[in-house]
Amino acid sequence: MSGPVTGPHGPSGAGPAPLDRREEAARIVAEGLRAVAEAASLEELRALQAELVGKRSALAGLGRSLGSLEPEARRVVGAELQEARSGLEEAIGSRRSALEQAERAVALQSDRLDLTEVLAGSSRGHLHLLTQTRDELEDVFIGMGYRVAEGPEVEDDWHNFEALNLPAAHPARGMWDTLYLDQGDSESILLRTHTSPVQIRVMQTQPPPIYIVAPGRVFRRDTPDARHLSTFHQIEGLVIDRGITLGDLAGTIESFTTAYFGPGMHSRLRPSYFPFTEPSGEFEVTCPICAGSGCRTCTGTGWIELGGCGMVHPNVLGAVGLDPEEWSGFAFGFGIDRCAQVRHQVPDMRVFLDNDLRLLTQF
Ligand code: PHE
Repeated sequence: MSGPVTGPHGPSGAGPAPLDRREEAARIVAEGLRAVAEAASLEELRALQAELVGKRSALAGLGRSLGSLEPEARRVVGAELQEARSGLEEAIGSRRSALEQAERAVALQSDRLDLTEVLAGSSRGHLHLLTQTRDELEDVFIGMGYRVAEGPEVEDDWHNFEALNLPAAHPARGMWDTLYLDQGDSESILLRTHTSPVQIRVMQTQPPPIYIVAPGRVFRRDTPDARHLSTFHQIEGLVIDRGITLGDLAGTIESFTTAYFGPGMHSRLRPSYFPFTEPSGEFEVTCPICAGSGCRTCTGTGWIELGGCGMVHPNVLGAVGLDPEEWSGFAFGFGIDRCAQVRHQVPDMRVFLDNDLRLLTQF
């Protein structure tokens, strides 16, 4: 009788002859090997594995039916079935590694990052607007004969305040909300609140005449808003020479304004107070948005305030051992971030710190 192979629950008793079992096993192996070779995915292969060598496979059924054979025939056929099973398992194993390798290759390909890719319309990266602004400001002053100086961002109380005519407990210290470091004596080490301590460091290390600008990062314990950041940038100017007057200061600010903001842009000084300059002023430039005719940004005045300035106070010269009878000078300081904001009409300064590509690619 040439019916289907009887399974474990097939007719009990004699069952198929040993020869039938061997033919059946050979057929299962041949078909199984073909199916394994054709399996297109790991999932398909898993299903095949259960079907070919699992507990409920035809091969397992044949094995279970060996009990009805003579011991010798049982041993021989049993060994052959075991061999058939091993052959299938081996084929499944090697097909599995081939499929796994192919799937990994596909995953790697799809995860691949092309770091050389240049998206149409985007730039390949460039200096941040604030760095560009600092460079341009430096260039304006270098063109006027100044040198660039630098100082540390972590300062001591003496350079940041005391030497600038701000002794301990001076009420004007409240003009700068200071971040102190937990170093040394309490409130002795701080993050500089302005670039003015660089004036002191330069005067301590080089004899006049001095013509320097000092750009850099400064820090204040302030809540950021559209026009203020707690970490921002200033550029300081210091001139020490013989016979320097307020006229030199005003002329320097005016030359800078036209050079940086463009022709038709002007400056003016308004009286103000800083402990390290006397007299002191705030300087304003023509509002670039309305070109001086008055708008919301300049609250109708036509002017925008940029920074502070004044004639170096005799006490400051005294603190660094310069004779105020021989030397005089002026100083000014203003925000680099504010400059960029005014010149490029950026409504909210906080975007300078966001690193949002939509801003970065504009400048
Ligand atoms: N250091 C002052 C500030 O941060 C600005 C300033 C600099 C004023 C130099 C006068 C002279 O506000």
